[in-house]
Amino acid sequence: MDYILEVENLCYTYPDGTEALKDINLKIEKGEKISLIGLNGSGKTTLFLNLNGVLKPSKGKIIYKGKEIKNNRKDLNMLRKNVGIVFQNPDTQLFCGNVYEEVSFGAVNLGLCDDEIRRRVDRALISTNIYDYKDKAVHYLSYGQKKRVSIADILVMEPEIIIFDEPTSSLDLYHSKQVVKLFDEFSQKGTTVIISTHDIEIAYSWSDYIVVMKKGKVLAQGVPYDIFSKEDILRECMLEKPLILEIFENLKEKNLIKSSSSIPKNKKELLEILK
Ligand SMILES: Nc1ncnc2c1ncn2[C@@H]1O[C@H](COP(=O)(O)OP(=O)(O)O)[C@@H](O)[C@H]1O
Ligand SMILES: [Mg+2]
Repeated sequence: MDYILEVENLCYTYPDGTEALKDINLKIEKGEKISLIGLNGSGKTTLFLNLNGVLKPSKGKIIYKGKEIKNNRKDLNMLRKNVGIVFQNPDTQLFCGNVYEEVSFGAVNLGLCDDEIRRRVDRALISTNIYDYKDKAVHYLSYGQKKRVSIADILVMEPEIIIFDEPTSSLDLYHSKQVVKLFDEFSQKGTTVIISTHDIEIAYSWSDYIVVMKKGKVLAQGVPYDIFSKEDILRECMLEKPLILEIFENLKEKNLIKSSSSIPKNKKELLEILK
């Protein structure tokens, strides 16, 4: 199996001595949709910053497309170019004048020609549904609009892997759904999408694979059903069972649906079973 990104025995300790990551091992396939879940402080953001070379592992390895990333400028630049992060708080990421300038900044930095910059920026603004605001000053936008600009910011770089740190945490339901739809579009085009989320419904229905973190360690990883059907994992990670799965298991227990019914991933599939 060819993995796009591998993490081997990764440890990270902050300068103040906080051991934020302890022996993390992951293998990520190209085009996969991955959710990282875990309580605040479990190490999700720290792991992301290690994955794109902002932080350097204290121990262990990051392997991109089979090649170990060494601590030199060439390797780190390559990693930063190919692994884009959309930060949790757009204000930490955005800094330019208007939306168009902000989003074109990354493309300009890549040294692309003007036509290519325009093509990429227009596409990113359209796909994040922010094109109408292209001439508006970033600091006048609402939080949700800024969030979409920060996504467009990363899209113009056309990275192979896009990481979203708690992408839906402060979006309304409509825009959360839009953003999740966007993730699906990326992954259909072959982009690997990794998110962190506290929304177990999104993690359950959207992900191909889930990584559960606790106190800097990976406590469990697997396909969504395997994670959310195991009571011991749920208890240990203080996770709730997704509503769709809870209803499904209840109906099955009470023999209200066929025992051969396939496990529903979302509301639509559950309603299909109930027909
Ligand atoms: N800059 C920093 N300096 C020292 N400790 C930090 C720093 N950033 C985060 N931490 C600590 O690292 C641990 C993991 O934090 P973080 O990766 O932000 O978790 P999460 O994203 O899952 O909420 C926490 O104990 C946090 O307090
Ligand atoms: Mg975080």
